[in-house]
Amino acid sequence: MCGIVGAVSRRDVVPILIDGLKRLEYRGYDSAGIAIVSNGELRRVRSVGRVAQLEAEARAQQVSGPLGIAHTRWATHGVPHIRNAHPHQSLDGIAVVHNGIIENHEALRLKLQQQGYVFESETDTEVIAHLVHSCYARHRDLARAVREAIAQLEGAYAIAVVCAQVPDRMLAARRGSPLLLGLGDGEYFLASDAAALISETRKMLYLEEGDVVELTLEGYLITDADGHPASRAPHISELSAETAELGPYAHYMQKEIAEQPRALADTVEKVLALGFVPELFGQNGAETLASIDSVMLVACGTSYHAAMVARYWIEQIARVPCWAEVASEYRYRDAVHDPATLIVTISQSGETADTLAALKHAQACGHRHSLAVCNVPESALTRHSTLTFLTRAGMEIGVASTKAFTTQLVALFAFAVTLAKLKGRLSPAAETEYLDALRRIPNKVQHVLNLEPQLQLWADRFASKRHALFLGRGVHYPIALEGSLKLKEISYIHAEAYPAGELKHGPLALVDAEMPVVAVAPNDALLEKLKSNLQEVKARGGELYVLADNDSQFTSEEGIHVIRMPDHEGILSPVVHVVPLQLLAYHAACRKGTDVDKPRNLAKSVTVE
Ligand code: M6R
Repeated sequence: MCGIVGAVSRRDVVPILIDGLKRLEYRGYDSAGIAIVSNGELRRVRSVGRVAQLEAEARAQQVSGPLGIAHTRWATHGVPHIRNAHPHQSLDGIAVVHNGIIENHEALRLKLQQQGYVFESETDTEVIAHLVHSCYARHRDLARAVREAIAQLEGAYAIAVVCAQVPDRMLAARRGSPLLLGLGDGEYFLASDAAALISETRKMLYLEEGDVVELTLEGYLITDADGHPASRAPHISELSAETAELGPYAHYMQKEIAEQPRALADTVEKVLALGFVPELFGQNGAETLASIDSVMLVACGTSYHAAMVARYWIEQIARVPCWAEVASEYRYRDAVHDPATLIVTISQSGETADTLAALKHAQACGHRHSLAVCNVPESALTRHSTLTFLTRAGMEIGVASTKAFTTQLVALFAFAVTLAKLKGRLSPAAETEYLDALRRIPNKVQHVLNLEPQLQLWADRFASKRHALFLGRGVHYPIALEGSLKLKEISYIHAEAYPAGELKHGPLALVDAEMPVVAVAPNDALLEKLKSNLQEVKARGGELYVLADNDSQFTSEEGIHVIRMPDHEGILSPVVHVVPLQLLAYHAACRKGTDVDKPRNLAKSVTVE
């Protein structure tokens, strides 16, 4: 989703801004732009499409200068079009880039139009540019103008502002959307994501809610929401500067699926070394986990499916009441709050707007304890949570989440077992069994990856279908949901998932020869029930695709295609069973020729509501 980069330096900042935008490309965007202030003049270049195109245009127009801002836009207000691309401009060479959504933009636009401002885009951001100018025109003080303008904004924003008439400084402000400073050697940077700055500096500081910052070559001045000077502690970023290489793979998603054995091994390394100890989740782990009596899991999309799986584990293993909430629903629900409930947020990016807002909502309603299960160190979620468990999936670039999901699962499993141990509900035998399960899981997943040729054959048959149904029971119902989400988001085949027992309560009406039905069929306590459900499909002429554990005695026959997985993996079976579903979706999308890593309309990090 949208990304911001800014720089003030003695050298030309255009290469810095372009490199920063390239590092943010994985987030998804549809247009990009830069605005440079040089010799009292503002020059703006914008383009629809890739950053490489913007780079070429900036080079062709010989744009360069020591101060500038840049942006990648993911359309919200207004179609992807050059007129809607950032930076947006006003009079006197004022230019603005913006992440977030201004909720009162229509009222402000009307007011500004009455003052004579002419709008050239449909965006909420152009309102900010003219608003800053209308304040600046009164007193010619850019910092004061930015403060007066943001006082009138409702909604979420991270903005950066430059002005041709004030060529030595850049203003920035944030509320609700992340923004950080990079501290170089006599030069200063700005970005919405640490990854954008990593090739320039590792020394960074995060702005807090309501902060306004003024950057010049001499340094930076931060003022807080009340306008008082504020100091924010810098830290050294641990992000890797390496840009992800595709290597022998055709797509990042394919690479990320294949990386799962390594990602899982890295994520469980600490657990295997230390055992199920509360310190895995932070210094105050023991104290915090001892004081909670229930767990609420909050997340979006794939991470929500991880929450749904974890709910089964936390209740079964730790015997602690637990439920999973979709973040965008929870944040607006008038829920009953128990301060002794631990809020567990789950997120690959750590900056999903709804998940972050749900956490803040819970905190405002009295929840003192929170745990973030997250793949990005230094993200907004980890900074706002009292406890953290970092998954070690490595950078995930494909929009469709794969290795982030399986590493979230093992992290949440370790959490469930740790909670059980702390509450005195874990026998030594069970503890050994669960540690062994974690130790085995990377190899098991590798074994399933070897089934790829068989999944390719299934995918060939799916590619011509318009709909698909996924079934699972118990802890594998969320896995069916995850399989259907993967298929729909990258192949655009409409897919639904149901708990298999729900079939005859409605979805069975959809089943015919044109509707492939995928069944997640591990050899667990619900297998016989599932087999009866599958008979219902077969009796209606449905085509069944069964992912069966080796020991669950399914055989292929007319209308039933069976892939034999390894023997039943027990409690961690969901981690094993999701992998073939990822491969099925991947190969179906490849067959259809869709943009696997950047599916239409989607972004990697959903930083707006
Ligand atoms: O970064 P997060 O885990 O918070 O992202 C949540 C969802 O946006 C994400 O999982 C999304 O559903 C993926 N595209 C699914 O593959």
